[in-house]
Amino acid sequence: MKKGEKREQWGSKLGFILAAAGSAVGLGNIWKFSYTAGENGGGAFIIIYLLMAFSIGLSIMIGEFALGRMAQSSPIGAYKNIDKRFTFAGVLGVLSAFLILGFYFVIGGWSLAYIFKTFDGLISNTDAIGDIFGNFVSDPFEPIFWLFVYLAINIAIVSKGVKDGIEKLAKFLMPALFILLIILSIRSITLPGASKGLEFLFKPDFSTVDGTVVLAALGQAFFSLSLGMGIMITYGSYINKKENLVKNSLIVVTIDSLIAILAGVAIFPALFSFGMEPAAGPGLVFVVVPKIFANYNIVIGVIMSFIFFLALTVAALTSSVSLLETVTSYLIDEKKMERKKAVGLLGVVLAILSVLSSLSMGYMSNAKILGATVFDILDLLTDKIFLAIAGMLMAIFMGFFMKKSDLRKELTNEGKVKFRLFNIWFYFMKYIIPILIAIVAFMGISSSENTGVMAFGIFFIVILGLISKEM
Ligand code: PHE
Repeated sequence: MKKGEKREQWGSKLGFILAAAGSAVGLGNIWKFSYTAGENGGGAFIIIYLLMAFSIGLSIMIGEFALGRMAQSSPIGAYKNIDKRFTFAGVLGVLSAFLILGFYFVIGGWSLAYIFKTFDGLISNTDAIGDIFGNFVSDPFEPIFWLFVYLAINIAIVSKGVKDGIEKLAKFLMPALFILLIILSIRSITLPGASKGLEFLFKPDFSTVDGTVVLAALGQAFFSLSLGMGIMITYGSYINKKENLVKNSLIVVTIDSLIAILAGVAIFPALFSFGMEPAAGPGLVFVVVPKIFANYNIVIGVIMSFIFFLALTVAALTSSVSLLETVTSYLIDEKKMERKKAVGLLGVVLAILSVLSSLSMGYMSNAKILGATVFDILDLLTDKIFLAIAGMLMAIFMGFFMKKSDLRKELTNEGKVKFRLFNIWFYFMKYIIPILIAIVAFMGISSSENTGVMAFGIFFIVILGLISKEM
């Protein structure tokens, strides 16, 4: 963009909230939140998650929006213009987006496949639903076919810049997803034996909480809120100067958390009623939710299942498109590639990475590096390390390298709106967040079964920091 030219802005306030919430609400809230909560003990994890989302998550989101709107540029540019040594924090974000896509496309493909499986007897026999999922993910071809279809949709959207279509679709499918989750929740808590699931969700047992659980909650907060990748910095750069950034951040965090909790209420009571294991892993949504639909009259069940997986796929699309756009614009702005070429290149590389992570969920589940499968490595590096560390770097950057008065001006729209807690926010960002994230990361890494992969992640960030001048 030329100097003096005005940066494009969101057409309306709603447009901005929808884009930010569209990026935030996705597979993370439903697919990832449910199995992560299940694996980490339920209630206690959820409380820690909410604490993280509304303290660290909210503060970082406010920070990303403010940084973006102040800098009026891409995340890398925002860092570069103030202090070159921080460029690598932006690059780390782009890398995270790339790695997340390596498994996000796989699950997006599952969701897409399930739209069609709905009409292929998915819910006609409750007892077969678990096997249908197991056979599907361990098949060497079928999930790869769907991941390619899902990938192609993403590429078409990002290369042509035709976001209008899915935005329109999202406008009525996101509310539909919300309503369906409420209906599912009601059904779920009225199933026989559901009370055990409610206990699991709302009677926290803190005795099982260790560093791994706290780190999982922190990572989930970053992942689910789309933080630590510069996405909200980019979105911030398009926000009108009159918008109240703090209030809008609070709205996005609230919507995102609400959807995650609703997904939990829809899934766990039913899961216990069906006598299943909460720690069953990434297949949770794809098994439990169809089983609830199978409890309805078949026609109603099929219709609901169709709408659910369609809405989940569209929610996934609004998130994965924001991820792919982040990496694409990095290649366009910093590496001077043409859009079509950048997207094409990414398509090929990501196809390879996604195939590997898809196979590692079934066919190649024994192929491990440092004790983890490709899918696990991508998840461990991003969600457990890179996102939170990128957030920490931004907090340090804002606390120590930017002027407090500039930040105050940005967040109060030059004094036109109030941000009473500004001082608390600022010192929280400057001191508490870096220290907290460092402690949580250290405890989480040391108590994890995957210390090797995570230690590699930290080592990698240090190297990235050292060579950052090259970027
Ligand atoms: N927040 C999205 C979700 O919950 C995933 C995502 C992560 C999107 C990071 C963009 C950036 O599904």
